[in-house]
Amino acid sequence: MIVKDNYSLKEHNTFGIEATAAHFVEYDSVDELQMFVGRRAANGDTTPLLHIGSGSNLLFLGDYAGTVLHSQIRDITVTANEGDYVYVRVGAGLVWDDWVQYAVDSHWYGLENLSLIPGEVGAAAVQNIGAYGSEAKDFILFVDTVDLETGAIRHFTAEECRYGYRDSIFKQELRGRYAITHVHFRLSHSFRPCLDYGGIRRALEERGIDDVNITAEQLRQTIIDIRREKLPDPTELGNAGSFFMNPIVERSVFEHIQKSYPDAPHYEVDADRVKIPAGWMIEQCGWKGKSVGHVGVYEKQALVLVNHGGATGQEIRQLCESVQADVEARFGIKIHPEVNFIA
Ligand code: EPU
Repeated sequence: MIVKDNYSLKEHNTFGIEATAAHFVEYDSVDELQMFVGRRAANGDTTPLLHIGSGSNLLFLGDYAGTVLHSQIRDITVTANEGDYVYVRVGAGLVWDDWVQYAVDSHWYGLENLSLIPGEVGAAAVQNIGAYGSEAKDFILFVDTVDLETGAIRHFTAEECRYGYRDSIFKQELRGRYAITHVHFRLSHSFRPCLDYGGIRRALEERGIDDVNITAEQLRQTIIDIRREKLPDPTELGNAGSFFMNPIVERSVFEHIQKSYPDAPHYEVDADRVKIPAGWMIEQCGWKGKSVGHVGVYEKQALVLVNHGGATGQEIRQLCESVQADVEARFGIKIHPEVNFIA
């Protein structure tokens, strides 16, 4: 276990915000995490705890007065092979894209469209990350956790995780209570590419890859290329991917918008509801590529807020509020951050 005091979080948040944690603890095993929780309980320590992954979905508004926890559990274990399926248990601290690469290399299929999403496996299961028509929940069977109050181990089935769009029980009523230690995935031995999300087929055509003989490696590489074209590399420009969620609205609300914007992009959710890309609305408000001081809206994808260097969390928050206010004034829709604000 690594324990540090007054520790800089700059390398632990992809926005690259300068903030410090009063304490920082990195554990290597479930036993170590349970030991840490037990010691806190024995000492009557009730200072705040924040469990992070690679900080790709966090905004530190200032220094963190409590303890930041980080998992170094990174093992990959096949637990069963049954028919077309392989069941794999993966440590929460493994970098998500290393897991996707490992799965593709092992000929275990399903995760290709989730290539290059920043973050770690545990956070992916909290956030239900998604891209290009796939979501993490489609492949998660259950998760192993440790209760951060009692140290007890508890398993949650995917149903108990109550997954939704960028959402789970770990972001709602159980926020901060459990640390995910492992995620159990079910992947397939047969490759069934999912190519119908906008942009993939066009990108394949440009590369001369046909959709019948495509390999998982080719699909993964194409997704990586598409993401690199649109999304800034956090090592070059601080950002946390999509800053806002795409709002899901009543169909009547969308039809009203369509009167002024006949070409407004949208995704069908169900008979009554439609999802509107927030990036499109932000662009319509004139924010795309605009900067205010150290922060700005990314020039190639308006859903992404960026730190041009030296920004504080408060500056990002102010930009967020200005963008929200303009979108609400123009479209009558309140957009909400996907990024977690840490006070
Ligand atoms: N659009 C604009 N202007 C922009 C950005 C987007 O008009 O500046 C339009 C696009 O033309 C398109 C639509 O909005 O018609 C959707 O854009 P895109 O396909 O880029 O996806 P998105 O809805 O902006 C979501 C996810 C991304 C994920 C992509 C691809 C959310 C919050 N974001 O973005 O996830 O990679 O789809 O599947 O759902 C992330 O969560 O960090 C993330 C990057």
